[in-house]
Amino acid sequence: MRLLLAFDDELALAQQLAAELGCPLHTIQRHTFPDGEMRLVLPKPLPEHVVLLRGLQQPNDKLVELMIAAPTARELGAKRLLLVTPYLAYMRQDMEFTPGEAVSQRHIARLLSQHFDALITVDPHLHRIASLDEVMPAGQGRALSAAPLLGRWIAQQRPGALLIGPDEESAQWVAEAAAAAGLAHAVGRKLRQGDHQVQLALPEVEVAGRPVVLLDDMASTGRTLVGAAEQLLVRGAASIDVAVTHALFNGDALLALRAAGVGAIWSANTVPHASNAVSIAPLLARAVDEALQPGQAG
Ligand code: R5P
Repeated sequence: MRLLLAFDDELALAQQLAAELGCPLHTIQRHTFPDGEMRLVLPKPLPEHVVLLRGLQQPNDKLVELMIAAPTARELGAKRLLLVTPYLAYMRQDMEFTPGEAVSQRHIARLLSQHFDALITVDPHLHRIASLDEVMPAGQGRALSAAPLLGRWIAQQRPGALLIGPDEESAQWVAEAAAAAGLAHAVGRKLRQGDHQVQLALPEVEVAGRPVVLLDDMASTGRTLVGAAEQLLVRGAASIDVAVTHALFNGDALLALRAAGVGAIWSANTVPHASNAVSIAPLLARAVDEALQPGQAG
């Protein structure tokens, strides 16, 4: 017997995932007190296998939710507790960029691994490490990729498009998307000078007259994609569209992208957003089934 737990602001994906898994879905009730503390109410009792869906966009409150919800789920009967976190935050803080700076990637991954038996996520920003095994006990974290889904979507919408990844980190996702869809691809380099300032060196491929789709794991301020779009339009690209796994689009990101001449904006539904175009629910369901097979440890 298993159960999917979710929060009401991620209901669309939760319902898809419950349907794929063929299991009941219950929401965790949440109340925020005037002082900012939260009160959570879980269904009682819980079955042995519990899957908790929680993406970590705007992560800090959600991390506290998880720190409260996970031990409560165990008190209420969960023996095997699986976290499905379609967007895993803090993965970009993966080195001590300035002396004394916390390498948050390590600490957040360890914290989650202490509360859950296994974690499933999608396109975590793994740049200086090759796998989640480097930041949590081996085999406990599983990274799936939405890149092939996005690649096939792009090929349907813009047949023959050139896929461009704005920076070195995006190479992994762009290569996967291109391979799944049979599209050409290239990757640039980026120097980040601040939250909203980036300097890009895009690849010297011919873009004049071609439809170009920029692909990345996430857009936050959107400035990486804005910088790339502006350069490619100056070089004569026929159109610029954008596809990302995680549609964070913080602040004025969408306005800035439109002002830069970007046409369509597509994303996977790891983060609920109007741009969601492909669903990761079947991918997540397969991984959950595998993680809950008898004999799976971790
Ligand atoms: C980092 O390299 C990531 O892959 C993204 O390129 C980056 O986080 C996007 O951030 P922003 O939208 O703020 O430029």
